Amino acid sequence: MVMTGPWLLYGANGYTGALVARLAAARGHRPILAGRSADAVCALSDELGLERRLFSLDAPARIEEALAGMGLVLHCAGPFSRTSRPMADACLRVRTHYLDVTGEIEVFEALAGRDAEARSAGVMLLPGCGFDVVPTDCLAAHLARRLPGARRLALGFQAGGRLSRGTATTAIEGLGQGGLVRRGGVLTPVPLASKTRTIDFGAGPRKAVTIPWGDVSTAWHSTGIPDVEFYMAAPLLLRAFAHASRLLGPVLGSPAVRRFLVARARAGAPGPTEEERRRGRAWVWGEVEDAAGGRAESRLATPDGYTLTARAALAVVERVLAGQAPAGFQTPARAFGPDFVLGIEGVTRTDL
Ligand SMILES: NC(=O)c1ccc[n+]([C@@H]2O[C@H](COP(=O)([O-])OP(=O)(O)OC[C@H]3O[C@@H](n4cnc5c(N)ncnc54)[C@H](OP(=O)(O)O)[C@@H]3O)[C@@H](O)[C@H]2O)c1
Repeated sequence: MVMTGPWLLYGANGYTGALVARLAAARGHRPILAGRSADAVCALSDELGLERRLFSLDAPARIEEALAGMGLVLHCAGPFSRTSRPMADACLRVRTHYLDVTGEIEVFEALAGRDAEARSAGVMLLPGCGFDVVPTDCLAAHLARRLPGARRLALGFQAGGRLSRGTATTAIEGLGQGGLVRRGGVLTPVPLASKTRTIDFGAGPRKAVTIPWGDVSTAWHSTGIPDVEFYMAAPLLLRAFAHASRLLGPVLGSPAVRRFLVARARAGAPGPTEEERRRGRAWVWGEVEDAAGGRAESRLATPDGYTLTARAALAVVERVLAGQAPAGFQTPARAFGPDFVLGIEGVTRTDL
């Protein structure tokens, strides 16, 4: 087990990183704030009275130097398809636990592929410490506990409110790539929104479509259930866009269109306002079935997704600082159990 010590919050000046930094400071933590944009990181560290380290992810030796003496890194700089690898490399070399808030399937899979390396270094790799995937992963593990031997898992969420710039940028990166489900334990490409279903997530029935959410990767690692699909509640316009994107795939995936969409997203507000977050709610739903016709269904009600992300990520940090950091690739439920999510303020669970 790597000794825990001071911790580093990378991407601290981003929308999500700053939420975590403020919550951490309010709870008496002293994270070292880090990022590549000196002015923005300095402004936040001055405001919160916290130490800072300024570095980009381009030079491995510089990342290693910045991680020296850190018990863990909470990595909040995404899209993680670009930023996870250099940070995880450095964490494995200097033996610092790696946590992030990705929801990107390829990032989960890449880190899962480094399990043996992480075990032998005594380092925990725990991606997905935000809304995607803490509540859904814990719900998946809870359902697997309710119905041992389940063969099929469906998960999903309903949330309102606007996206942060970083979430929008990350989603645009994935446009044109279609969907993914897990079949027989194998990640299987399917068209985006290949299935539509009416689901009561906890706020009345809603039409929902399948999307390639992080749990398509992680739920398999947490539960071993071989067939996994993930639904998002989607109003008519979004469903129509998802269906149209099958035909528009090559256009949406083209660098020029992506650049245009990213520029639009970056020109918008950083994310939901404090008031919008305070009013926001989200609902998470899951269902398991076994080969004998057994079935179980459960739900979670949670705060707004960004508030939940900050609280969940900090709850993970607190576990690690307390010495709970099993080496190797982990998921939230595998590391801390299905009930971990119930310790997060504002989360309730119902079994149907
Ligand atoms: N799993 C979840 O539930 C969840 C929840 C919230 C956010 N997220 C993810 O977290 C990421 C950040 O979201 P956000 O809303 O905080 O975005 P944001 O406000 O745009 O902030 C992005 C942060 O990442 C940094 N960054 C981006 N690319 C970088 C690179 N190549 N090297 C170093 N730093 C880099 C930015 O630094 P600069 O300011 O220097 O550009 C900034 O600090 C996104 O990928 C988003 O999808 C996931």
